[in-house]
Amino acid sequence: MSIERYGLQLDELRELTAEILERKLIDYLDLALWDSAQMVREGTFRGKTMLSVFTSLPRKGVRVGAAGKIMSAHRAVQLLDEGCDFVLIARAGILTRDFPLQVMADPRYESPTLPVTAGYLRRGGLSERFINHLQGWPSFVLPGSL
Ligand SMILES: Cc1cc2nc3c(=O)[nH]c(=O)nc-3n(C[C@H](O)[C@H](O)[C@H](O)COP(=O)(O)O)c2cc1C
Repeated sequence: MSIERYGLQLDELRELTAEILERKLIDYLDLALWDSAQMVREGTFRGKTMLSVFTSLPRKGVRVGAAGKIMSAHRAVQLLDEGCDFVLIARAGILTRDFPLQVMADPRYESPTLPVTAGYLRRGGLSERFINHLQGWPSFVLPGSL
């Protein structure tokens, strides 16, 4: 579930999520944030983390996980401690294809930081097509890099 940026009301999303969990309609819920540390800026839940608005709901056996700037083993553990059943990675997994293995091997593991060069992604085995796509994203691929 994409929580931010799509004009959805947080209260509504929370109600909807509560019903989905209550009725056990799904096996797991992916809270797709861009920043898992994001705070709620207005309304009923102002001052709380966006994540806590959802992790505080009764789960009825449904597993709840989150994505959003998880770029280190430390951050993954923090989110598990904050009540996530699992975490999801997108950008860190693109940068380091075996990110989960690195995290398991080293509790101090940190992902390379963004942006990276196109060459870095190429060396990591990404296709030219995917690299082209990511090049439209200057905070991901350093503009003009080869
Ligand atoms: C290449 C790419 C494509 C994505 N496409 C979508 C999408 O279609 N819909 C969506 O809700 N989120 C999309 N996301 C956002 C991810 O689901 C995730 O919430 C976000 O990348 C934050 O996680 P990260 O910090 O581990 O990258 C995309 C992310 C990446 C990197």
